[in-house]
Amino acid sequence: MTIGTIRELGAEKKTVLLRLDLNSPIDPASNLILDDKRFREHIPTIKALEGSRVVIVTHQSRPGKKDFTTLEAHAEKLEQLLGKPVTYVDSIFGKHARDAVHAMKIGDVVMLENVRFNAEENLTLKPEEAKKTHLVKKLSSMADVFVNDAFGTAHRSQPTVVGLPMAMRSAGGLLMEKEVFTLSKVFSGAPRPVCMVLGGTKVDDSIDVAKNVLDKGIADKVIVIGVVANVFLIAAGYDIGKPSTQLIAQLKYQPEIEKAKEILAKYKDRVVMPQTVAVRENNHRKEYPITKIPEDCPVLDIGIESIHDMVGVLKKSGTVVFNGPAGLFEEADFATGTYEMLKAASKVEFSVVGGGHTAVVIEKMGLDKDFTHISTGGGACIEFLTGKVLPAVDALEQSKKIFG
Ligand code: 3PG
Repeated sequence: MTIGTIRELGAEKKTVLLRLDLNSPIDPASNLILDDKRFREHIPTIKALEGSRVVIVTHQSRPGKKDFTTLEAHAEKLEQLLGKPVTYVDSIFGKHARDAVHAMKIGDVVMLENVRFNAEENLTLKPEEAKKTHLVKKLSSMADVFVNDAFGTAHRSQPTVVGLPMAMRSAGGLLMEKEVFTLSKVFSGAPRPVCMVLGGTKVDDSIDVAKNVLDKGIADKVIVIGVVANVFLIAAGYDIGKPSTQLIAQLKYQPEIEKAKEILAKYKDRVVMPQTVAVRENNHRKEYPITKIPEDCPVLDIGIESIHDMVGVLKKSGTVVFNGPAGLFEEADFATGTYEMLKAASKVEFSVVGGGHTAVVIEKMGLDKDFTHISTGGGACIEFLTGKVLPAVDALEQSKKIFG
C-alpha cells in the first residue's frame, strides 16, 4: 500500500476533513435514501477517527440530475447508523460552516453541504490546479489533516479528491484501503475467462471501460445490457424505437455511439449484445427481437432469450465483473434481466460487483454474501480494474511523498 493510512496519520485531537462518498439512490420527491450501503461501509473509518473532530465533505449526484439535492437526509441517516449526533451544516465553507467547525469538540461529527453545489468541485483538474481552487484553499484552512475514504469518487479528478491531498497531510480511509487491496487481486491471477458485464445508464464511463478492457486483454468477453446495450444497438444499425433513441439523444451520448461503432468493428466476437429486448407496450412487458422493436415503446430490459444466452456466457466464466443493471429493475416487470444475470454472476469463482445501484438489487435479492466483493464504486471500481491509476489514489501517493 503506497498511500498513507489512518494509523500513520496521527489524527488524534486534530480536525480531520473526511471525504466520503454518500452518493446514494434517493427518491427525488421525498428525499428518502433508498439504500444505505455506502453509509454502512464508511462507519469503520468514522469510528477509527473517534479521537478527532470529523468534518465530512461529501456529495449527492451531479448538477442537472433530479437527485442532486441537499444533505440533511444524509446526515440523519449517518447519525442513525453511527449512533451519535452528526450535525448538518447548510454551507460548504461559508461563515456558518467555519463557525460550526470552530465550535467542534473532540468526538464531534459535522457534515458540510453537498460539495458539488460549489461549481469548482465539478471541474476536472490536475492536482496542482485543483490545489489552487478557492474550494481547496478554504476547506484546507478549516482542518489539520485530510482523510479520503470516498472510493466511489476516486476516478474523478475533482478538487476535493485530488487538490486537498496536495494541500494537507493526507491518508486513505479504511474503506479506501479495503477497496484498493481487494480489487488489486483481480490483476494477480483472476480465473479466466474474465467477463465484464456493463449496464446501467452511465454510458460514457462504460464505453471507455469496454475499450480499455478489450484492448488490454483484461476481459475475454464484454456483455452489454441496460442503456449501454441500447447505445451499442444503435451503433450496430438497429432502430431501438423513438423513446429510447430520444433518451440517448437527451443524455448526449452521440460520441459514445461513434466509440461503440469502433469497438464493434474491432471486437465484434467479444462483445455480447442482446438479441431480444423487453419493452413497455400498453403498460405490459412485451418481448421483441432487436430487428422488430416497436417505434413507440421504450426498451426497459433485455429479453428472456437473451438472458438465457448471456447466462450461458457467465456460467463459462471464471471471473465476472458486473457493473450496472440490465433494465428498469425498480419495476417488477422489467427486473428479470438484472435478477437472472446477477444470480448467475454470483455463482462464478471470482465475482466482483461495482456500482451502488447494482449493490441495492443484490441486497434485495439476498445475494450479498455470495459475491467475492461488492465494491462501493461503480465507475471507480471498473476504471481501477482497467489498470488505470485512479486520480484519488495517485493524489494520496503524491501527498505521502510531499508531507511524509
Ligand atoms: C458514483 O456514484 O459513481 C460516485 O459518487 C461518483 O459520481 P459521479 O459519477 O456523478 O461522478
